[in-house]
Amino acid sequence: MAYPLLRSALFRLEPEQAHALVMHGLVFAHHHPGALRLLRWTFAPSDPRLRVRCFGLDFANPLVLAAGFDKDADASATWPALGFGSAELGTVTALAQPGNPRPRAFRIPEERAVINRMGFNNAGAAALAARLRAARSRPWWPDAPVGVNVGKSRVVEIEDARDDYERALRAVWDVADYLVLNVSSPNTPGLRALQGGAHLDALLGVVDTLRSSLGPKPVLLKIAPDLDEAELDDVVAAVERAGLDGFVATNTTVRRDMLRRDPGEAGGLSGAPLGPLALEVLTALRARTRLPLVASGGIETPDDVIARLEAGATLVQAYTGWIYRGPFMARHVAKGLLRWLEHAGASDLQAWLDARDIAHARADAPAAARAAHRTGDDQAR
Ligand SMILES: Cc1cc2nc3c(=O)[nH]c(=O)nc-3n(C[C@H](O)[C@H](O)[C@H](O)COP(=O)(O)O)c2cc1C
Repeated sequence: MAYPLLRSALFRLEPEQAHALVMHGLVFAHHHPGALRLLRWTFAPSDPRLRVRCFGLDFANPLVLAAGFDKDADASATWPALGFGSAELGTVTALAQPGNPRPRAFRIPEERAVINRMGFNNAGAAALAARLRAARSRPWWPDAPVGVNVGKSRVVEIEDARDDYERALRAVWDVADYLVLNVSSPNTPGLRALQGGAHLDALLGVVDTLRSSLGPKPVLLKIAPDLDEAELDDVVAAVERAGLDGFVATNTTVRRDMLRRDPGEAGGLSGAPLGPLALEVLTALRARTRLPLVASGGIETPDDVIARLEAGATLVQAYTGWIYRGPFMARHVAKGLLRWLEHAGASDLQAWLDARDIAHARADAPAAARAAHRTGDDQAR
């Protein structure tokens, strides 16, 4: 395969330089339908058995580009041509901001991992909206849902976060097919405090306000892998109360104990060492809610994807895995999924997901009945 050669050339560059170089090529394709056709022909799986439906939207396959790669929607038309069923663009904030000083991204190749402390460098929600609106009006805009991830502007105090999110959400509401509230980046001071208590209720209340004035839209919450059981209980209850549509689980971790060698850089850890922790959180979420789950964290191989689907995810995301695997990742995942579906005797992925959800609901039913019975007993007493 050619990618290991290309990767070793890219890995000679500083991570942000390599990212900029790759983005340069992808932005070129974004503006040239002929290049998009070539990419699609080379990299995109096209088997209808991989289609899935999630929070009311149709995806050509369950693999989604995770947030942070295309922060400003520079290459939004290119991601489906590389085989992604969707891309989550952003994180954008209401105010444009430069992010943290460089260097702020570090590879750990022997662990297939990355540490980053980018700090939401982005050109602002209004700029993303303008770029995405222009892209969507072109005849070659792909038929794939696009998500936009929204975070808090750094200069805004946590007490004023609600209004700041509202500004950013208003700017991107109509250009996104779905939205993700990011309260889980470790690189904006205080941001993770928004994952609980009154702050979270206030923030999630924005969604109702915006749905009333701007129309319905699927909205998900992206959480950290570092929440304990009680914090997960709280966050699930708040999301269900506010009528959100699901979770992206998880963002990067501030833990380092899963590394063989800690490079001593501050920031969020992603890639293979995050996988088991992110899967644990996904499983814990599924035990608490029936809302749709989008898995993120350490996903690289077909087996990684299958483990997330079996744990309850409907969509899966990759960022670091894509850096290490390269552009054939989507085809590789698609091939593995199709083989697995055939082995499982499922006609297609959506049929397998439906059967999984029915089996989960049946398994939940006796517990729910027992709980109802107990409540009745209590009332009788
Ligand atoms: C360099 C880098 C930048 C990132 N930027 C963002 C971001 O802006 N917003 C966000 O929600 N997640 C961001 N992430 C987190 C990813 O979206 C993803 O949730 C996380 O890396 C775990 O997935 P992975 O192991 O496939 O990388 C970033 C990750 C990396 C490596």
